[in-house]
Amino acid sequence: MKVFNSSQSWVDEFSDPIRPLGMVPTMGALHQGHMTLIERALKENNTVLVTIFINPTQFNDKTDLERYPQDLDADIKKIEQFRENIFVYTPAVEDVYGNNITARSFDLGGLDETMEGKKRKNHFHGVATVVSSFLEFFQPNRAYFGEKDFQQLRVIEQLSKALALNTKIIGCPIIREPDGLAMSSRNQLLRAEDRKKAPMIFQLLRLLKAQSAFLNYRALRELVHDFFKKNDSLKLDYFVICDPKTLQEIDFKQSPDTGRAFIAVYLGKIRLIDNLDMS
Ligand code: PAJ
Repeated sequence: MKVFNSSQSWVDEFSDPIRPLGMVPTMGALHQGHMTLIERALKENNTVLVTIFINPTQFNDKTDLERYPQDLDADIKKIEQFRENIFVYTPAVEDVYGNNITARSFDLGGLDETMEGKKRKNHFHGVATVVSSFLEFFQPNRAYFGEKDFQQLRVIEQLSKALALNTKIIGCPIIREPDGLAMSSRNQLLRAEDRKKAPMIFQLLRLLKAQSAFLNYRALRELVHDFFKKNDSLKLDYFVICDPKTLQEIDFKQSPDTGRAFIAVYLGKIRLIDNLDMS
């Protein structure tokens, strides 16, 4: 494993890795969800580059950025266990942005306008800014992203097409805690009582999937709203069923079982997202 923190050291020392090169972009506070992406990248490539960078331009909420968990030493220990051909890029903000810390603007084909994009203004332009700059600079053969952030995965696929990048974008399934909660770096910020309730999000999605054979979208929405009325310590931010390709909401008259359900929930001040294929 080699850790480096400037793009110049890549140019000077490592810029000709044994290919194929697989890239796993992360914001650190690594958990099993991230590790699964790294393991898959190791299986499919000769060299893997993990980036650990908390990207300021994708945070629309300053407190969310300030309290975002960070533990670089622990992250590096976790990656070190592989003892393989792994590079870890841990840049400072200036190495990525110089002194112009702003998001560029991209044509994301409207995929950025629903759900997370609606709730977190400019979020996906911030994500696209950092991901496109990493893809253009390192030119990996493959880049790995989790379906945990399904909309992000779609946005990056679109970005890679729009910029005609030569990287294959690979989506990987959601990794969950034994109680069903989707793993997330933000889970460690939950208060103990909220952590106990958090698995209800996935339980609700599973219930909806089971019911989707019998109920239309409108009836499922009613189920969701009843659920949050009964469980008022969880606050619904949004729930939608979308076409997994276009991310457009499926009309309530249609059967939802071809769609993917997306949900965002507040537990205290912490906002969690999850999604589930309904077919
Ligand atoms: P981060 O939240 O650290 O996630 C890094 C990658 O791990 C993303 O592709 C994400 O979808 C994936 N991931 C997170 N939790 C997962 C889980 N439980 N199961 C499977 N995959 C999971 O997403 C970002 O960082 C940033 O937006 C980034 C792409 C690095 C750009 O800054």
